[in-house]
Amino acid sequence: MTQTLTDSAPRIEAPTAVLPALHIGRHTIESPVVLAPMAGITNRAFRRLCRQYGDAGSAAGGASGATSLYVSEMITSRALVERTPLTMRLIEHDPDESPRSIQLYSVDPETTGRAVHILASENRCDHIDLNFGCPVPKVTRKGGGAALPWKTEHFRRIVASAVRQAAPYDIPVTVKMRRGIDEDHLTFLEAGRIAEGEGAAAVALHARTAAQAYSGTAQWEAIAQLKQAVTSIPVLGNGDIWSAEDAVRMVRETGCDGVVVGRGCLGRPWLFTDLAAAFAGAPTRVQPTLREVATTLRLHTVYLAEFFESETKACRDIRKHIAWYLKGFRAGSEIRSRLGLVDSLAALDDLIDSLNLDQPWPGAPAEGQRGRAGSERHVVLPEHWLESRELDDSARAEVAQAEVSASGG
Ligand SMILES: Cc1cc2nc3c(=O)[nH]c(=O)nc-3n(C[C@H](O)[C@H](O)[C@H](O)COP(=O)(O)O)c2cc1C
Repeated sequence: MTQTLTDSAPRIEAPTAVLPALHIGRHTIESPVVLAPMAGITNRAFRRLCRQYGDAGSAAGGASGATSLYVSEMITSRALVERTPLTMRLIEHDPDESPRSIQLYSVDPETTGRAVHILASENRCDHIDLNFGCPVPKVTRKGGGAALPWKTEHFRRIVASAVRQAAPYDIPVTVKMRRGIDEDHLTFLEAGRIAEGEGAAAVALHARTAAQAYSGTAQWEAIAQLKQAVTSIPVLGNGDIWSAEDAVRMVRETGCDGVVVGRGCLGRPWLFTDLAAAFAGAPTRVQPTLREVATTLRLHTVYLAEFFESETKACRDIRKHIAWYLKGFRAGSEIRSRLGLVDSLAALDDLIDSLNLDQPWPGAPAEGQRGRAGSERHVVLPEHWLESRELDDSARAEVAQAEVSASGG
């Protein structure tokens, strides 16, 4: 499948930037590209799809065997410690996933340590990413997610606890964060230095504040600043990479060691072909026809059916991806809305057959922003949160509550 897409799609000339391999602890990531953890998206099925496209791009660039890093959707430390069935399923990987990467969302050092110990001692992963970027009000209201690095010592203890538990197993721990709470309360430089000092193997910055959520544009200057501040481990840039050209530009403008790509690959997993090719110095880009897009959409659904062990659940889940896959293509509103209600693979096939599949890649209308956007907002925090960088006992009890079914970063 991947081969068909990359072999037959038209190719355009585009800028490249050959970057050295990324070293995350003992892992060499030859193509310095990371699939951003996305709750409800980067499950085993989607990671497999992205990985297949990434491998095709590496082969196109002549970098045989090059790897990228594909991070799982976030799981909470507490759910892992409690071994909830859903969490135990979410941490599973394909047999050929390497390195096996898992993102943990944590709010306290002790639970973090216990969760990391489970992952490490039971040989359930090869890399752990800690999520400090979640801007969701129900999480920041209690001091979790992107609000947490404000409490510097507490943040330090969480990172230290994870590193301490992972170290005997030689599992690198990385930190993913935002610029801060809002423009008046930036935390990324300090948090980056703390993570580096505590033994994190890399830091990734989504260059927005929690107040920005997904609105406006990511401030890539902050990635350049972080790169100046954190000098002994890789700094990864994240935010608003919609194409391989954007990724190359981010590297040029910020000096970052690798890129983390989230929304840009929604309904467009072949972006990993382009990214791998661009960083391997190949000026080729994939521009699939609608027929090829539909083949990928169907394959995604098949992978989801395997992941959920249910065709019905897979069809329900693929619905949210339909608009992203069809972006820019001509498909009547009736077919689009019927695809949005698809409940079986047979129905999906019928609907795909009713599309004009010979449409070429639409170009600009299919490119650019997709996924979450929204507007700037006031960040809800625990009372008196901003008055001190230390965590007092009442705030500690509140933060412990911030681990309830968080979703996203
Ligand atoms: C649907 C969705 C779910 C997300 N879930 C997570 C998550 O679980 N953990 C995390 O650290 N970030 C999460 N994020 C944030 C992304 O990892 C990334 O930082 C953000 O989307 C900015 O990158 P982008 O502009 O390339 O999308 C999520 C984003 C989206 C759109």
